[in-house]
Amino acid sequence: MTRFYFDEQSVESIEGETVLDALIRQGHSLNYSCRKGACKTCLVQHIGGDIPSGAQRGLTSELKSDAYLCACQCKPTQDLKLKSILVQNLFIAAHIHEKQYLSDSVVKILVEPSEEMSHSAGQYINLRRFDGLTRSYSITNDPDSKLIELHIRRKYNGQFSDWLFNHASVGESVLIQGPWGDCCYRSEYKNDTLILIGTGTGLGPVYGIIRDALSQGHKGEIYLYHGAKNEADLYHHSKLLKLMLEHRNMTYLACVEQMGSGKSSTRVQTGDPFEVAMSFHQFDSQTLSDSPQRVFLCGEPSFVNKGQELVFLNGTPLDRIHSLSYEYKDLRKVPRDGS
Ligand code: FES
Repeated sequence: MTRFYFDEQSVESIEGETVLDALIRQGHSLNYSCRKGACKTCLVQHIGGDIPSGAQRGLTSELKSDAYLCACQCKPTQDLKLKSILVQNLFIAAHIHEKQYLSDSVVKILVEPSEEMSHSAGQYINLRRFDGLTRSYSITNDPDSKLIELHIRRKYNGQFSDWLFNHASVGESVLIQGPWGDCCYRSEYKNDTLILIGTGTGLGPVYGIIRDALSQGHKGEIYLYHGAKNEADLYHHSKLLKLMLEHRNMTYLACVEQMGSGKSSTRVQTGDPFEVAMSFHQFDSQTLSDSPQRVFLCGEPSFVNKGQELVFLNGTPLDRIHSLSYEYKDLRKVPRDGS
C-alpha cells in the first residue's frame, strides 16, 4: 500500500495501481481516455515528493518543466503530492465555427481558437466541453487555416461524440489544448512515395496530410487506401475521386468489408486496406533504396499496431513509418475483440 496526496486528500494505492487507477477506485473524478500516455487528458501537476520514472514520458519539455505528469503512467511513490490542473494554464478558449454532417455517423466540426494556434494535419488536440469532459481528436486540415477541422464519428456509448454529433451547435464554446503529435507531412518528403492508409475517420488526417503535400508541390507518387465497413461509410469518396483526377501523382482506392447489392462505385473493392496496399507495394529495404517511401497509418489501434509491425518487419525503418492511433475509452460491455 502506498499513500499519496491529491488536492491535499490522502489516497491509498494498492500494488501495481497507477495514480489514475487509485483515484478512480476511490471515487475521484479525473478526465482520462487512452490510459496509454498518448492523449494527455489525464494530466495532473506534481507539487511534492519524487516524480516516479516514466510519469512524464512523451510530454513536451514545457509540460515537463511545469511539473505535469500523466496520471495513467504514474505509479505513485510514498508521500507523492499532486494537484488538479488549472484549466486556464493548459487550454485556450475556442468555439464551434461550423458543423457539417458527412454521413449518417460522421460529422465535420470546424473549431475557431480565440488565439493563433499553429497546427498541421495529422496532429491532434484535446477538446473540453462545459462540464470538463475532454476527448482527443485528430486534425484534418492544413496549417494555412486558422480554423481547426475535425472529423468525428459518433461512437457507441460515446458521451462526447454523441454530444458533438447531436447537440453541440455553431457558436458553442469549448476549450482546446495542444496540438500534439508528428504524424504530418514535411517539405523534405517532397520526392518520396507516400503510402497512406486510413480506416474509418482515420481518413480525415490522411486526407489532410495529402492536401498539405499537394499544396507544397509534392513530386513523388501518393497512394491512399481508405478502409471502411461499407460504401455508405466512404464519406469523402467523391472528393477523393476528384482529387485523383486533378493530380496525376495521386492514386486512391477504397477498401470495404462488404459491398452493397447494387452497382458498386468506381475505385471500390472488398478487402482489408492494409492487405490491399501490401498487394501493390513492397515495404522491404530493396524497394526503399530504389524509391524511398513513407507509410502513414491512421485509425483504430488494432489496425495501426498491426500495420506498424508488418511494415517494420518487412524492412521499412521506423523513421519512415508515421502513425496516429485512435486510442479512446471503450465503453462496450463486451470488448471489441470479443475476448
Ligand atoms: S495519457 Fe493518460 S489517459 Fe491518455
